[in-house]
Amino acid sequence: MDSAVIHDTDFAASALEGLQSSPKWLDSKWLYDAQGSAIFEQITQLPEYYPTRTETRILKEQISALTDVLEPGTVLVELGSGASVKTRILLDAADKLKAYVPVDISADFLEETAEGLRDAYPETPIRPVVGDFTQDITLPAALDAEPKTAFFPGSTIGNLPHDTAAAMLDRLRHWPSIEALILGLDLVKDTTTLVAAYDDAAGVTADFNLNLLRRMNREIGADFDLSAFRHEARWNAELSRIEMHLVSQRSQTVTVAGQPIRFAEGESIHTENSRKYTREAFAAIADRGGWEIADFLTDTGQLFAVAVLRPKRA
Ligand code: TRP
Repeated sequence: MDSAVIHDTDFAASALEGLQSSPKWLDSKWLYDAQGSAIFEQITQLPEYYPTRTETRILKEQISALTDVLEPGTVLVELGSGASVKTRILLDAADKLKAYVPVDISADFLEETAEGLRDAYPETPIRPVVGDFTQDITLPAALDAEPKTAFFPGSTIGNLPHDTAAAMLDRLRHWPSIEALILGLDLVKDTTTLVAAYDDAAGVTADFNLNLLRRMNREIGADFDLSAFRHEARWNAELSRIEMHLVSQRSQTVTVAGQPIRFAEGESIHTENSRKYTREAFAAIADRGGWEIADFLTDTGQLFAVAVLRPKRA
Protein backbone atom coordinates (compact mmCIF):
# COMPACT_ATOMS: atom_id res chain seq x y z
CA MET A 1 0.00 0.00 0.00
CA ASP A 2 1.39 3.43 -0.97
CA SER A 3 0.37 5.17 2.22
CA ALA A 4 2.30 2.62 4.30
CA VAL A 5 5.51 3.44 2.40
CA ILE A 6 5.06 7.20 2.90
CA HIS A 7 4.28 6.52 6.51
CA ASP A 8 7.50 4.56 7.14
CA THR A 9 9.61 7.27 5.51
CA ASP A 10 7.95 9.92 7.67
CA PHE A 11 8.48 7.84 10.79
CA ALA A 12 12.17 7.20 10.01
CA ALA A 13 12.84 10.88 9.27
CA SER A 14 10.99 12.02 12.38
CA ALA A 15 12.70 9.44 14.62
CA LEU A 16 16.17 10.34 13.32
CA GLU A 17 15.52 14.06 13.76
CA GLY A 18 14.66 13.50 17.40
CA LEU A 19 17.32 10.92 18.21
CA GLN A 20 20.09 13.00 16.62
CA SER A 21 19.09 16.01 18.74
CA SER A 22 20.36 16.85 22.18
CA PRO A 23 18.43 16.18 24.39
CA LYS A 24 16.90 13.28 22.49
CA TRP A 25 13.15 13.23 21.80
CA LEU A 26 10.54 11.36 19.79
CA ASP A 27 7.26 12.78 18.52
CA SER A 28 4.52 11.30 20.69
CA LYS A 29 2.17 10.83 17.75
CA TRP A 30 4.15 7.66 16.94
CA LEU A 31 2.94 6.11 20.20
CA TYR A 32 -0.44 5.42 18.63
CA ASP A 33 -0.05 2.57 16.17
CA ALA A 34 -2.66 -0.21 16.43
CA GLN A 35 -0.70 -1.86 19.24
CA GLY A 36 -0.04 1.43 21.05
CA SER A 37 -3.66 2.50 20.77
CA ALA A 38 -4.72 -0.85 22.27
CA ILE A 39 -2.28 -0.46 25.19
CA PHE A 40 -3.53 3.08 25.72
CA GLU A 41 -7.07 1.74 26.08
CA GLN A 42 -5.71 -0.42 28.95
CA ILE A 43 -4.14 2.67 30.56
CA THR A 44 -7.55 4.31 30.66
CA GLN A 45 -8.79 1.44 32.89
CA LEU A 46 -5.94 1.62 35.44
CA PRO A 47 -6.75 2.52 39.05
CA GLU A 48 -4.01 5.20 39.05
CA TYR A 49 -5.14 6.78 35.78
CA TYR A 50 -7.91 9.10 37.01
CA PRO A 51 -8.39 11.28 33.87
CA THR A 52 -10.55 8.93 31.80
CA ARG A 53 -13.00 7.89 34.48
CA THR A 54 -13.21 11.41 35.91
CA GLU A 55 -13.90 12.95 32.52
CA THR A 56 -16.43 10.20 31.81
CA ARG A 57 -18.20 10.93 35.08
CA ILE A 58 -18.30 14.68 34.38
CA LEU A 59 -19.80 14.03 30.94
CA LYS A 60 -22.39 11.58 32.29
CA GLU A 61 -23.44 13.62 35.29
CA GLN A 62 -23.45 17.01 33.58
CA ILE A 63 -24.57 16.03 30.10
CA SER A 64 -27.53 18.41 30.29
CA ALA A 65 -25.01 21.28 30.14
CA LEU A 66 -24.04 20.04 26.65
CA THR A 67 -27.45 19.74 24.99
CA ASP A 68 -27.15 23.32 23.65
CA VAL A 69 -24.13 22.38 21.58
CA LEU A 70 -25.60 19.04 20.40
CA GLU A 71 -28.82 20.28 18.86
CA PRO A 72 -30.56 18.39 16.03
CA GLY A 73 -28.70 18.94 12.75
CA THR A 74 -25.29 19.42 14.38
CA VAL A 75 -22.20 17.69 12.99
CA LEU A 76 -20.13 16.33 15.87
CA VAL A 77 -16.42 16.13 14.95
CA GLU A 78 -14.10 14.31 17.34
CA LEU A 79 -10.34 14.87 17.25
CA GLY A 80 -8.19 11.87 18.15
CA SER A 81 -11.21 9.65 18.54
CA GLY A 82 -9.45 6.40 19.55
CA ALA A 83 -12.12 3.95 20.68
CA SER A 84 -14.78 6.71 20.89
CA VAL A 85 -15.93 5.53 24.32
CA LYS A 86 -16.73 8.99 25.70
CA THR A 87 -18.39 9.92 22.44
CA ARG A 88 -21.12 7.42 23.16
CA ILE A 89 -22.21 9.54 26.12
CA LEU A 90 -22.66 12.46 23.71
CA LEU A 91 -24.26 10.32 21.01
CA ASP A 92 -26.69 8.87 23.56
CA ALA A 93 -27.75 12.35 24.64
CA ALA A 94 -27.87 13.95 21.18
CA ASP A 95 -30.97 13.90 19.03
CA LYS A 96 -30.76 13.67 15.21
CA LEU A 97 -27.15 14.67 14.68
CA LYS A 98 -26.36 15.46 11.05
CA ALA A 99 -23.26 13.26 11.29
CA TYR A 100 -20.51 12.06 13.60
CA VAL A 101 -17.02 12.53 12.16
CA PRO A 102 -14.28 10.74 14.12
CA VAL A 103 -10.77 11.93 13.16
CA ASP A 104 -7.80 9.75 14.07
CA ILE A 105 -4.26 9.07 12.91
CA SER A 106 -4.67 5.30 13.23
CA ALA A 107 -6.63 4.18 10.15
CA ASP A 108 -7.14 0.58 11.28
CA PHE A 109 -8.41 1.55 14.69
CA LEU A 110 -10.67 4.20 13.17
CA GLU A 111 -12.37 1.75 10.82
CA GLU A 112 -12.93 -0.78 13.61
CA THR A 113 -14.45 1.90 15.82
CA ALA A 114 -16.64 3.28 13.02
CA GLU A 115 -18.14 -0.14 12.43
CA GLY A 116 -19.08 -0.53 16.10
CA LEU A 117 -20.71 2.90 16.08
CA ARG A 118 -22.69 2.19 12.91
CA ASP A 119 -24.21 -0.82 14.67
CA ALA A 120 -24.99 1.10 17.84
CA TYR A 121 -26.26 4.31 16.15
CA PRO A 122 -27.89 3.25 12.88
CA GLU A 123 -29.62 6.67 12.55
CA THR A 124 -26.39 8.68 12.70
CA PRO A 125 -24.17 8.87 9.60
CA ILE A 126 -20.63 7.98 10.73
CA ARG A 127 -17.99 9.63 8.50
CA PRO A 128 -14.46 8.72 9.70
CA VAL A 129 -11.56 10.89 8.52
CA VAL A 130 -7.95 9.70 8.75
CA GLY A 131 -5.89 12.67 9.76
CA ASP A 132 -3.38 14.32 12.05
CA PHE A 133 -5.28 17.02 13.93
CA THR A 134 -2.10 18.97 14.65
CA GLN A 135 -2.12 19.68 10.91
CA ASP A 136 -4.85 20.62 8.47
CA ILE A 137 -7.74 18.18 8.39
CA THR A 138 -10.05 17.93 5.40
CA LEU A 139 -13.62 17.47 6.53
CA PRO A 140 -16.22 16.16 4.05
CA ALA A 141 -17.07 19.23 1.90
CA ALA A 142 -20.74 18.23 1.84
CA LEU A 143 -20.89 19.21 5.52
CA ASP A 144 -19.45 22.74 5.07
CA ALA A 145 -22.74 24.54 5.66
CA GLU A 146 -23.81 22.41 8.63
CA PRO A 147 -23.32 23.70 12.18
CA LYS A 148 -20.43 21.94 13.88
CA THR A 149 -19.39 21.12 17.40
CA ALA A 150 -15.87 19.78 17.84
CA PHE A 151 -15.09 17.36 20.67
CA PHE A 152 -11.52 17.06 21.93
CA PRO A 153 -11.54 14.94 25.10
CA GLY A 154 -8.81 13.22 27.11
CA SER A 155 -6.71 16.34 27.77
CA THR A 156 -4.95 15.57 24.51
CA ILE A 157 -4.47 19.33 24.13
CA GLY A 158 -2.00 19.00 27.02
CA ASN A 159 0.16 16.73 24.90
CA LEU A 160 0.78 19.54 22.39
CA PRO A 161 3.35 22.32 22.68
CA HIS A 162 1.61 25.64 23.55
CA ASP A 163 2.16 27.08 20.07
CA THR A 164 0.80 23.96 18.39
CA ALA A 165 -2.18 23.96 20.75
CA ALA A 166 -2.94 27.62 20.07
CA ALA A 167 -2.49 27.13 16.30
CA MET A 168 -4.79 24.13 16.39
CA LEU A 169 -7.48 26.04 18.31
CA ASP A 170 -7.13 28.87 15.81
CA ARG A 171 -7.56 26.47 12.86
CA LEU A 172 -10.62 24.93 14.49
CA ARG A 173 -12.01 28.40 15.04
CA HIS A 174 -11.92 28.93 11.26
CA TRP A 175 -13.66 25.70 10.25
CA PRO A 176 -16.77 26.38 8.18
CA SER A 177 -19.81 26.73 10.45
CA ILE A 178 -18.01 25.85 13.68
CA GLU A 179 -20.14 26.83 16.68
CA ALA A 180 -18.62 25.19 19.74
CA LEU A 181 -15.77 23.13 21.10
CA ILE A 182 -16.10 20.68 23.98
CA LEU A 183 -12.61 20.12 25.34
CA GLY A 184 -11.25 17.98 28.21
CA LEU A 185 -8.34 19.28 30.25
CA ASP A 186 -6.43 17.88 33.19
CA LEU A 187 -6.02 20.13 36.23
CA VAL A 188 -2.97 20.81 38.41
CA LYS A 189 -2.96 18.68 41.58
CA ASP A 190 -0.55 17.02 44.02
CA THR A 191 2.60 15.49 42.51
CA THR A 192 2.05 11.98 43.94
CA THR A 193 -1.31 11.61 42.22
CA LEU A 194 0.09 13.02 38.98
CA VAL A 195 3.19 10.82 38.84
CA ALA A 196 1.28 7.64 39.76
CA ALA A 197 -1.12 8.26 36.86
CA TYR A 198 1.83 8.09 34.47
CA ASP A 199 3.81 5.32 36.17
CA ASP A 200 1.31 2.67 37.26
CA ALA A 201 2.14 -0.30 39.49
CA ALA A 202 1.19 -2.86 36.82
CA GLY A 203 3.64 -1.36 34.32
CA VAL A 204 1.11 -0.78 31.55
CA THR A 205 2.24 2.81 30.98
CA ALA A 206 5.85 1.64 30.84
CA ASP A 207 4.85 -0.88 28.18
CA PHE A 208 3.04 1.87 26.26
CA ASN A 209 6.11 4.08 26.26
CA LEU A 210 8.51 1.21 25.43
CA ASN A 211 6.25 0.26 22.52
CA LEU A 212 7.82 3.20 20.69
CA LEU A 213 11.14 1.34 20.66
CA ARG A 214 9.40 -1.88 19.62
CA ARG A 215 7.72 0.01 16.79
CA MET A 216 11.02 1.44 15.55
CA ASN A 217 12.48 -2.09 15.60
CA ARG A 218 9.56 -3.34 13.57
CA GLU A 219 9.07 -0.52 11.09
CA ILE A 220 12.33 1.33 10.54
CA GLY A 221 14.96 -1.34 11.05
CA ALA A 222 16.09 -0.29 14.54
CA ASP A 223 17.73 -2.69 17.02
CA PHE A 224 16.70 -1.36 20.45
CA ASP A 225 17.14 -3.79 23.37
CA LEU A 226 13.95 -3.01 25.32
CA SER A 227 15.41 -4.33 28.57
CA ALA A 228 18.14 -1.66 28.38
CA PHE A 229 15.61 1.22 28.69
CA ARG A 230 13.37 2.18 31.61
CA HIS A 231 10.15 4.22 31.58
CA GLU A 232 10.13 7.32 33.77
CA ALA A 233 7.42 9.90 34.54
CA ARG A 234 8.70 13.26 35.89
CA TRP A 235 6.73 16.25 37.16
CA ASN A 236 8.13 19.50 35.74
CA ALA A 237 6.64 22.10 38.11
CA GLU A 238 8.02 25.08 36.24
CA LEU A 239 6.32 24.09 32.98
CA SER A 240 3.35 22.50 34.77
CA ARG A 241 3.68 19.21 32.94
CA ILE A 242 4.32 15.50 33.39
CA GLU A 243 7.19 14.39 31.17
CA MET A 244 7.58 10.87 29.88
CA HIS A 245 11.08 9.57 29.29
CA LEU A 246 12.81 6.38 28.23
CA VAL A 247 16.09 6.23 30.15
CA SER A 248 19.08 4.26 28.85
CA GLN A 249 20.25 1.86 31.55
CA ARG A 250 23.79 1.69 30.19
CA SER A 251 26.00 3.33 27.61
CA GLN A 252 25.10 1.76 24.29
CA THR A 253 24.89 2.34 20.57
CA VAL A 254 21.66 1.56 18.76
CA THR A 255 21.14 1.52 14.99
CA VAL A 256 18.07 3.37 13.72
CA ALA A 257 17.28 3.50 10.00
CA GLY A 258 20.92 2.75 9.24
CA GLN A 259 22.33 5.46 11.56
CA PRO A 260 24.26 4.80 14.79
CA ILE A 261 22.66 6.49 17.82
CA ARG A 262 24.84 6.68 20.93
CA PHE A 263 23.40 6.73 24.47
CA ALA A 264 25.24 7.54 27.68
CA GLU A 265 24.16 5.68 30.82
CA GLY A 266 21.16 7.58 32.28
CA GLU A 267 20.56 9.54 29.08
CA SER A 268 16.89 9.79 28.21
CA ILE A 269 14.64 10.05 25.19
CA HIS A 270 11.87 12.53 25.97
CA THR A 271 8.74 10.98 24.47
CA GLU A 272 5.75 12.96 25.73
CA ASN A 273 4.48 15.90 27.76
CA SER A 274 1.14 16.06 29.50
CA ARG A 275 0.38 19.60 30.62
CA LYS A 276 -1.81 20.27 33.62
CA TYR A 277 -3.82 23.48 33.75
CA THR A 278 -5.45 25.92 36.08
CA ARG A 279 -8.62 27.44 34.69
CA GLU A 280 -6.79 30.76 34.23
CA ALA A 281 -3.85 29.22 32.34
CA PHE A 282 -6.24 27.39 30.06
CA ALA A 283 -8.40 30.45 29.44
CA ALA A 284 -5.28 32.29 28.22
CA ILE A 285 -4.49 29.56 25.66
CA ALA A 286 -8.10 29.40 24.51
CA ASP A 287 -8.11 33.17 24.12
CA ARG A 288 -4.98 33.03 21.95
CA GLY A 289 -6.78 30.54 19.71
CA GLY A 290 -9.86 32.75 19.38
CA TRP A 291 -12.18 31.05 21.89
CA GLU A 292 -13.87 31.99 25.14
CA ILE A 293 -15.02 29.73 27.94
CA ALA A 294 -18.81 29.43 27.97
CA ASP A 295 -18.93 26.71 30.61
CA PHE A 296 -16.35 24.92 32.79
CA LEU A 297 -17.54 21.59 34.21
CA THR A 298 -15.47 19.87 36.91
CA ASP A 299 -15.74 16.95 39.34
CA THR A 300 -16.03 17.56 43.09
CA GLY A 301 -12.35 16.66 43.58
CA GLN A 302 -11.29 19.26 40.98
CA LEU A 303 -9.20 16.62 39.21
CA PHE A 304 -10.36 17.26 35.66
CA ALA A 305 -12.41 19.74 33.64
CA VAL A 306 -14.61 19.73 30.56
CA ALA A 307 -14.66 23.19 29.01
CA VAL A 308 -17.35 24.33 26.59
CA LEU A 309 -15.81 26.96 24.30
CA ARG A 310 -17.50 29.36 21.94
CA PRO A 311 -15.83 31.44 19.22
CA LYS A 312 -14.79 34.79 20.66
CA ARG A 313 -16.88 37.61 19.35
CA ALA A 314 -14.79 40.12 17.38
N1 TRP B 1 -3.44 12.15 26.64
C1 TRP B 1 -2.91 11.25 27.63
C2 TRP B 1 -2.48 12.05 28.84
O1 TRP B 1 -1.72 13.00 28.71
C3 TRP B 1 -1.78 10.47 27.05
C4 TRP B 1 -1.01 9.57 27.95
C5 TRP B 1 -1.43 8.95 29.07
C6 TRP B 1 0.35 9.18 27.79
N2 TRP B 1 -0.44 8.18 29.61
C7 TRP B 1 0.65 8.30 28.84
C8 TRP B 1 1.33 9.48 26.87
C9 TRP B 1 1.93 7.74 28.96
C10 TRP B 1 2.59 8.91 26.99
C11 TRP B 1 2.87 8.03 28.03
O2 TRP B 1 -2.88 11.74 29.94
